[in-house]
Amino acid sequence: MSALQIVSCSPLETEELGSQLGLILPAGSFLALRGDLGGGKTCFTRGIVSTTAPVSAHMVASPTYAIMNSYPGTVPVYHFDFYRLSGDDDVAELGFEEYFYGKGVCVVEWSERLKELLPADHLTVAFDFLEDDRRCITITACGPASTRILEQLAEQRRQEYFL
Ligand SMILES: Nc1ncnc2c1ncn2[C@@H]1O[C@H](COP(=O)(O)OP(=O)(O)OP(=O)(O)O)[C@@H](O)[C@H]1O
Ligand SMILES: [Mg+2]
Repeated sequence: MSALQIVSCSPLETEELGSQLGLILPAGSFLALRGDLGGGKTCFTRGIVSTTAPVSAHMVASPTYAIMNSYPGTVPVYHFDFYRLSGDDDVAELGFEEYFYGKGVCVVEWSERLKELLPADHLTVAFDFLEDDRRCITITACGPASTRILEQLAEQRRQEYFL
């Protein structure tokens, strides 16, 4: 397992990190986002969509009520938010597997709720609060496809892995 850690000092920096990743995400990528309310998950997703579907990026908001919003583009992005799913609701019954293993990029807020539905090969992006507007963003690769993406991101940022 390898990981990259980045400190973001503003919403713009978080969005820019999303854009950097969006440029290199191949179809079929899966991003499991983690972190408390207001951590920057939606902001980061907006950055991804700004590269795959620039005209739609301004519309990216937490799809809290819709559970999923899709952004057709160079690669379709499916943005999920499972926050409002109550404990007993079974994600498996919602029929999203075809997206999870499909031809688009899946970006999932509150991905903890997926449990065993989480694809084996995925990137985890964790958002931790530091002081004021600073966030510590840790991107971890699980699986060979995700490791290749992370290597490419590290190369672009000229950054070393920390794990
Ligand atoms: N460095 C930063 N990166 C991202 N957002 C930041 C940062 N500093 C401050 N913010 C603010 O934090 C909030 C992040 O909101 P965002 O909707 O992206 O969070 P979220 O993780 O999606 O939350 P939720 O779980 O409620 O959907 C915004 O109001 C943004 O302006
Ligand atoms: Mg959100």
